[in-house]
This record gives sequence, C-alpha cells and structure tokens, in this order.
Amino acid sequence: MSTNRRMALVAFLQAQNCSNYVGSWRAMTSKEDFLTAEYFARIARTLEDGRFDMAFFDDRLAMPDLYGGNHDLAVRHGIRSVKMDPTVVLMAMASATRHLGLGATYSTTYYEPFHVARHFATLDLMTGGRVAWNIVTSLNDSEAANFGRVAHLEHDERYDRADEFVDVVTRMWGTWDPDALLVDKRTGEFADPAKVHRLDHDGRFFASHGTFPVPRSPQGQPVLLQAGMSGRGMAFAGRWADVIFTSYRDRRSGESSYRALRQAVAAAGRDPESVVVAPAVTVITAETPELAAEKHRLLSGLARTEDGLALLCEVLNTDFSGRPIDEPFTDAELAAMSWHSLRDRVIAASGQPNPSVRDFVECSGRGTLAEGSTIVGSPEQVADTLEEWFGTCCDGFVLAAASVPASYDDFSRLVVPELQRRGLVRREYEGTTLRGHLGLPVPEPARSLPVTA
Ligand SMILES: Cc1cc2nc3c(=O)[nH]c(=O)nc-3n(C[C@H](O)[C@H](O)[C@H](O)COP(=O)(O)O)c2cc1C
Repeated sequence: MSTNRRMALVAFLQAQNCSNYVGSWRAMTSKEDFLTAEYFARIARTLEDGRFDMAFFDDRLAMPDLYGGNHDLAVRHGIRSVKMDPTVVLMAMASATRHLGLGATYSTTYYEPFHVARHFATLDLMTGGRVAWNIVTSLNDSEAANFGRVAHLEHDERYDRADEFVDVVTRMWGTWDPDALLVDKRTGEFADPAKVHRLDHDGRFFASHGTFPVPRSPQGQPVLLQAGMSGRGMAFAGRWADVIFTSYRDRRSGESSYRALRQAVAAAGRDPESVVVAPAVTVITAETPELAAEKHRLLSGLARTEDGLALLCEVLNTDFSGRPIDEPFTDAELAAMSWHSLRDRVIAASGQPNPSVRDFVECSGRGTLAEGSTIVGSPEQVADTLEEWFGTCCDGFVLAAASVPASYDDFSRLVVPELQRRGLVRREYEGTTLRGHLGLPVPEPARSLPVTA
C-alpha cells in the first residue's frame, strides 16, 4: 500500500505509569503526573503538532501478577502496576485536539458486543469520527480472575469468539443508514424507521435482539485495529482489520511478514491496498548520532531482568518463578503458552525446539529496549531507516516510547520535519476523520441479517 502514500504515524500509548518499556518511568525525562488529564492532553498536542494520524492505547485487564503468584514485584517496581481505562483517557486527549485520531484497546473475551458497540460508536460521535478500536482477545488467567472466570479461554477459541463478537458489533454499527436521521421540526419526523434496522442474532457465543440506539458517525464506523500474528490471528486480522499492528525482528523478516499479512487480507476476500500494516518501533533520536547513542545508553540502562520476567509470565500465562533457569519447557507447557507468535519467535531465535527461561529472557528481549525494533540515530538516520522500511515492508509505524513524553517530543520536533521534507508525512491535516487521515474508505453499513448458530 506504500506506493504514493504517506507514512502512517501511530503513537503506541499506555494509560499507565510507564510506556511499554517498563524502565521508562525511571528516566529523568519522564513526567510524573501520569494520573492526570493534563499529562495526556500535553502528549496529544505534541502528536497533533507532529501531524500523527493517531494515538492508540494498549490495554491489559490485570496487573502482571503471575510471576511468583502475587503482585509484590509489579507494585514495587512499577511494572505496569497502574492500568486505567483507556477510553476515558482517550476523551481527555480528544478534548485537547481537533484532528488527532484516537484508538483504544477493548477485549472481545471479557466485554460484551452491545457494550463495546455502543461505547465506541459514542466515542466516534463525540470526537467527530476520530476513533479506532484495537481488538484484542486478552492473554492470561489474571484477567480471567478479575472477571470472575476460572481460566482464560484457549487460543483459537478466543479468536472464534472474537470473530462472532466483531461480526455482531459491526452489524450493530450498520443498523442506522447514513441518511436515517431527519430531525425535521416542521414535519415532526425525527428519523426514518425504514432506514434503522433491527438486529437479531443468535450465535455460538452471543445473542442480541433489538435496535441499536446510536446513529452512524462522520467516518461511518470506528477504524478497526488488530495485531494477531499466529496463523489464526492473521486470518482474523485479514478478515477484519483496517490497520494491522505487528512487530518485526528486522527488515528482512518484515518483508515476509508483510507479504503474509497482505495475503491474509486477500484470502479474506478484501483488497490488501485498503489495509495499513504498521510494525512497532522505538525511536531514540537527538541532534547528532553521538547524542542519540548516549541517550540510548542511558535509557537502556534502566531495564531490569525482573521486569522482563514479570512481563513474559504475563503474556505467556505461565509462572517462571522457582523454575531452574536452564530447564527446557516440555511440549505440553509450550502448547499451553498464551501468545503463540512470541513463543514461536523465541523457538526460532534460540534454535531450541524446547527453550528454557533463559532462552525466553534473552531471545524475547521483553522488558528491554532490545525487544522488537529500536532505531537509534540523528533525525536523518532515523528517517533513512523508516523510509527504507516504508518502501519494502510496511505502510507506517507504531511508535513506542522509551520515555514519556520525551520520546514523542523528540520525534515530533526532530524526525517529523525531516520526514515532511521528504514528502512522507503531511504538513497539514486535510480532513478531520481518522479514516480520512489514513486514506481508508468509509465502509458500507454491515447488513443486519439474522444469524442463528
Ligand atoms: C503493536 C501491538 C500492540 C498490542 N496491543 C495489545 C494490547 O493492548 N492488549 C493485548 O492484550 N494484546 C496486545 N497485543 C497482542 C495481540 O493482540 C495478540 O495477542 C498477539 O499479537 C498474539 O497474537 P497471536 O496469538 O495471534 O500470536 C499487541 C500486539 C502488538 C504487536
């Protein structure tokens, strides 16, 4: 999709005490008022000045408390021990901006279709069509426990549920035709009942009967984001996602993942050109290569091995504590791990069909700046790398921060002007909706056919 298009810029935010690099909260350049609306409003203004397409919030519905079976480490070290509702924070950012798109993660495993459909339809109206939903199936038993469930659903079952969930949500969003509202005070006709369609759904996971009470927004419906990387996850993303988040080890592996993701979109009967693929990258930049390298050195020094252990246990739904560090995981233990693509990446990178805790720590880079892709350099060097990736393996980037708000200040102040000079990033917003920013079509309303399992 990258030919003749601009590079999509998405900020990878968290409604929490740190970025997804946990050590970030200890950085001298990180602000401490992360429990306030002003903290997020400031970030929003910076991103809008940098002409970002969107800020998006990840989410997890529990503290990372699987390591050692308690919350001590997470709370003591601030390992994502704060996790606020991202959609409320999103509105604080919406009020501070006029153009910036705003996405938030909501889970198909723990929420209900009607709730999510109404919540995001309302957010989309209140922001004038700037909202996106990041669809996740969640990852672990701590999340299940918070919702009174005994255990987290098995991997593929989660995606089956998610398929039906999104089908119901998009059909709820499609119940009001774009021209259904009349608001004609003269005739007393508020809306045309022939253009508001009832939904009747009886499926495997959900039932819903009624008429959805929120009209369509200026962008038709919220943008759908997704980040599945397993075979089942890619099939899901291929079917539903407008924007696919991913992570690449390097450009070469990125090229094959990019091809695979586009094939998954085509296999679902959709046009790969209508989907944006964006890998997560962390950019560390400064006026000169030497200053950037020094900044990188200081920031990487904030990582703690225990942060990585807690984060690995969280996403794999496994407690590593008390296990000899070099003991290989059995096939059964590996099969039970929650994040399949991360597990498979560690198997591939370590060359061990049955990796150990040490392999997971070293090869995943979890909790360190070595996780995923970190680009360090002057604005020109960073722009060179982003441009090279953009031309070959992606349509844009999800920019994770090593320090908040400093990483976004640096990127907007130093790298964006360079990307603008190269014609890769807009100088001004042309439209007001997120679909407009991303060049995505306004979808036809999903037809509300009765479904019975
Ligand atoms: C950029 C990015 C952001 C993600 N954000 C979240 C998130 O907010 N919450 C979550 O539970 N999972 C998140 N994930 C994980 C994915 O939703 C998904 O579970 C993971 O990629 C594993 O997919 P797989 O089971 O298909 O391998 C994210 C993944 C990526 C690459």
